[in-house]
Amino acid sequence: MRTELALKKRFADDFKIGAAVNPLTIVSQQELLTHHFNSITAENEMKFISVHPQEEVYTFEAADELARFARSNGMAMRGHTLVWHNQTPDWLFEDRQGQPVDQAELLKRLRSHIQTVVGRYKQDIYAWDVVNEVIADEGGELLRPSRWLDIAGPDFIGKAFEYAHEADPEALLFYNDYNESDPLKRDKIYALVKSLRERGVPIHGIGLQAHWNLYDPVLDDIRAAIEKYASLGLQLQLTELDMSVFRFEDRREGLTVPEPGMLERQAERYEAVFKLLKEYRDVISSVTFWGAADDYTWLDGFPVPGRKNWPFLFDERHRPKPAFDRIQTLS
Ligand code: G3I
Repeated sequence: MRTELALKKRFADDFKIGAAVNPLTIVSQQELLTHHFNSITAENEMKFISVHPQEEVYTFEAADELARFARSNGMAMRGHTLVWHNQTPDWLFEDRQGQPVDQAELLKRLRSHIQTVVGRYKQDIYAWDVVNEVIADEGGELLRPSRWLDIAGPDFIGKAFEYAHEADPEALLFYNDYNESDPLKRDKIYALVKSLRERGVPIHGIGLQAHWNLYDPVLDDIRAAIEKYASLGLQLQLTELDMSVFRFEDRREGLTVPEPGMLERQAERYEAVFKLLKEYRDVISSVTFWGAADDYTWLDGFPVPGRKNWPFLFDERHRPKPAFDRIQTLS
């Protein structure tokens, strides 16, 4: 008989263990989720376009269902996300004639959205990804071009945190981004958050999305990112961890099963990563996977249409993979 511990028990002295979920997976993966995880994040259901598709219309059914799932299973819940360049409806940026609104109007709409959404989940959500992915990936520009930036200038970032704090003074407020361990982007994220801190903006943490693969980023870059962010005196969370079996540049078409060696390499990678994370358990308060088991991952079809991926600790039938076994025996 296997004697392994549930993940949430295995890491009980270190950090919360979370999974991104949706209305389908809370059913199809229910047993796995409730056994191993003590935190959830809605994969899409709390994004702007999902909860507020039109100015006068809020749609909370799916988000409420996920919040109920967390509550009834005694799980913590992270909120994702209030400000993003993606999955945001056009109406937010436009007047009734389709012309761009001005800064004051956009901020007014943002405040009202945040008051409603953060206010609604006050009892359920302990941490929000307030602003997601505003840093430019490449080049010298700090911020990614977006309609937010065009209309409101950089002010929308600090304002979003202020509005979220106003709506729920108890919630932990995070800046969340990907490629967070890349040295160039790491330094930009650091610069943004440092300037927010210096201006007294209520921000409590940085979310490292951690969409990683079998090779990248190298461990030294992950360590350097953790150290640099932690030097700001904030808490850190891994918010969207997965370990693709393909390098990002690898555009090969589909395999139907993992190649020999892939799952062993993935196990070594997960072991090294969790060993590192445990070293920083004083600053890392939660590790959330962007899914739970290989039967469902956003990486299926990304970036190569139709291609399957196997990024998690559990296989398509929810059985532990070599990576799960490896992190069980970590000291
Ligand atoms: O809702 C429509 C549905 O009406 C339609 O029938 C269907 C047809 O394709 O599409 C549905 O929308 C999809 C949506 O997920 C909900 O399932 C979108 O096409 C699809 O693009 C969208 O993908 C999500 C993606 O964010 C959007 O950028 C992924 O599920 C979600 O895992 C992913 O999550 C992001 C994080 O929020 C931020 N960090 C990166 C991470 C991975 O991309």
